[in-house]
Amino acid sequence: MDNRPIGLLDSGDGGFSVVKKVIKKLPEESTIFIGDNANMPYGNKSKEEIINLTRHSVKFLLSKDVKLIIIACNTATAVAMPTMQKEVKQQIIGVVQSGSLAAARATENKNVAVVATPVTINSHAYQREINYRDPKIKVTELAAPKLAPLVEAMEDYETNLKVVKESLEPLKNKNFDTLVLGCTHYPIIQKEFEAALPDDISIVDPADQVAQYTFNVMQRDNLFAASGSVAKHEYYTTGNVSSFEKMGRSFLDDDSLTAIHVNTENL
Ligand code: DGL
Repeated sequence: MDNRPIGLLDSGDGGFSVVKKVIKKLPEESTIFIGDNANMPYGNKSKEEIINLTRHSVKFLLSKDVKLIIIACNTATAVAMPTMQKEVKQQIIGVVQSGSLAAARATENKNVAVVATPVTINSHAYQREINYRDPKIKVTELAAPKLAPLVEAMEDYETNLKVVKESLEPLKNKNFDTLVLGCTHYPIIQKEFEAALPDDISIVDPADQVAQYTFNVMQRDNLFAASGSVAKHEYYTTGNVSSFEKMGRSFLDDDSLTAIHVNTENL
């Protein structure tokens, strides 16, 4: 039994999409989510910069005494996870491994497309992880540099749809039956992805499998909070508090959500 919170980190608002699934799957667990909005986007930074920024957020979460850490960011999972696992004794859970497992299970024609940030795509982390599960799966990778900043800008549906359609254009005629939302910002505009794609494409949000995997790890390591615990959820950002709160309130459907500004650089 362990009543400490679960820590989650992302470059920005995208982590809310993982927080939502984790809270749903583990309703008695407290969570602490930090979005590094001041440094967003991570998707076009160097490996060294991303490792350094991820380290700051990890240190912040450890200062809050979290029992495990979910890197709720594909970009940070793709390039910073092995380093964090070496540096920290807490269990660290990434999103790419779970997303790959879900995609390998979902595809029937063995043809998967992955849309993600340039860093995630250039790392080929998804291709590697999907093919590790099934070498016969064809993986088409597409970098979409405009999409995470688009989500963060909280534009209207029509604007989002137009940019999603343009971004997915290179996937035309690729014959995939499964599309992985390989950036945690994308599930926030999942409706626009659904509208931009034919109805028979399965859209994989890795967060579902991340929540299941987190549950499994906590069961294995006896990390569940005491039964009947009332969960507390805390939100921190290195960026603008009111836009972070606005996104959190709308996506988690919780008008009482409040966030706190933090500076993680000097931890
Ligand atoms: N949400 C992040 C991800 O899952 C990245 C967005 C960004 O900062 O570029 O990759």
